[in-house]
Amino acid sequence: MNALVTNGDAAVQAGVGGPSLGEAEFAFLREFVLQQCGISLGDHKRQLVQGRLLRRLRALNLPGFAAYCDLLRRDPDAELGELASCISTNVTSFFREMHHYDMLVADLLPRWLEDKKKNGGRLRIWSAGCSTGEEPYALAMVLAEAIERTGSTVDAKILATDLSPQALEAARKGVYPVDRLGGVDDARRRRWFMRGEGAYDGYAQVHPRLRELVTIQPLNLLHEWPMQGKFDAIFCRNVVIYFDKPTKQRLFARYAGMLESRGYLFLGHSESMYGLSDDFDLIGRTVYRKRT
Ligand SMILES: C[S@@+](CC[C@H](N)C(=O)[O-])C[C@H]1O[C@@H](n2cnc3c(N)ncnc32)[C@H](O)[C@@H]1O
Repeated sequence: MNALVTNGDAAVQAGVGGPSLGEAEFAFLREFVLQQCGISLGDHKRQLVQGRLLRRLRALNLPGFAAYCDLLRRDPDAELGELASCISTNVTSFFREMHHYDMLVADLLPRWLEDKKKNGGRLRIWSAGCSTGEEPYALAMVLAEAIERTGSTVDAKILATDLSPQALEAARKGVYPVDRLGGVDDARRRRWFMRGEGAYDGYAQVHPRLRELVTIQPLNLLHEWPMQGKFDAIFCRNVVIYFDKPTKQRLFARYAGMLESRGYLFLGHSESMYGLSDDFDLIGRTVYRKRT
């Protein structure tokens, strides 16, 4: 999967009929995006970036890219989320890379719930780069089912964070077109979704129990993290794919610091920690366990 600008109107992507992105502005944007989002944009992405940002220029009523760069210089934090939404993709789905959920169901969740029942402690999972919510809600489904199966009373929660304001808004709504539920089997559709009616015909909303388990917050992974407690597992899948090497190294080191002893880090199918961290062992398909 290409995590950068893959969908949308071809004419807009090609930047037809609008101001063009000059070399100096593209150089500024590349550096800005690298510093602020960790995303490394190759030379060949200029046309693509131009196409994607044209929509933003229009929304802001700006005459050209120089004005947009000025806006970023003046108030970088205010526009960062929107910029990131334009240049990265939020493509996601329920139960994407199912083998990770299988591992949670068969091994990790029952073990963690049992361990915390005996020794105390909270169960915490972080969906870092949660996009529109499909990942954290799928995690909430398997967590809720494991809790029901074991009759556990352990304090268990999922934190879901992302940089994109639009993605977070959709995640908070938790309303999805029924044709986006492809990865969800029939039993789970019946158990965890409410079918919309009237204006919401063709849509389904996630069950309140899932919302209860998931806390959704804005967070740029490159900035400070306000969380205090540690996590049993971090899902950071299909997020670091376009981060440059130093950014990935720093991020993996910070994840190691945020995980419980022998906690788990799940990456996306085309991501790897190879040569980037000594804190983890690879123990499954894009599944890493903290060494100590
Ligand atoms: C392709 S989606 C992956 C969604 C989900 N994890 C999955 O695997 O289906 C990548 C998400 O990472 C988010 N993202 C990219 N850079 C980020 C950053 N620096 N901080 C936080 N989120 C970021 C994007 O906004 C996007 O929603």
